[in-house]
Amino acid sequence: MPIWKALHVLSMFTMVAIFIGAEIFYAAAILRRDVRALAFIQSTVERWYLGFAALGGLLAGIVFGLLTALTGGFDVLAGWLVAAYVLVALFFVNAAVIGEKVVRVGKAAIEAEAGRAPAESVFGTLPANRGVVLVLVNMLIFAAIIADMVLKPF
Ligand code: HEM
Repeated sequence: MPIWKALHVLSMFTMVAIFIGAEIFYAAAILRRDVRALAFIQSTVERWYLGFAALGGLLAGIVFGLLTALTGGFDVLAGWLVAAYVLVALFFVNAAVIGEKVVRVGKAAIEAEAGRAPAESVFGTLPANRGVVLVLVNMLIFAAIIADMVLKPF
């Protein structure tokens, strides 16, 4: 039904906007090794519940996507939908492997800014470009999913 598709696209765009938006700012602060900026970004993400909003958008988007498929006469095991499941799983892997480290340095930056930890310890062994890698990989995954949704190549 068109309403499920509309809610699906709305939820997914909300999720993409928040994740990619926040990650671009994390990437810039980590690249500059800017503890103050990173602490501000992390505390804003926490105060405005952006992580919950983005994850909520993704989970709602998956439910609405499945409802769209089930009510729209699509086969939920069609190749293009299986490709979408794999790409969404890849997003979770990227979040667990790189995203978790980025949030960890964000939390360490808050501690350093509050004077509870030395600023030199914030980044640990995290390479300066790791935030950029996080956002580029996610952009690639989301671009592939949107192309898959529109073109249905399989
Ligand atoms: C488990 C994951 C997903 C499922 C089951 C799913 C399912 C669907 C279905 C059934 C449609 C309707 C296709 C049509 O009417 O032609 C659709 C459309 C769409 N989906 Fe998804 N989707 C998923 C993930 C995503 C993600 C992560 C995004 C964005 C990053 C996304 C963006 C879109 C867009 C933009 C459309 C509209 C395409 C068009 O009308 O040409 N979907 N999706």
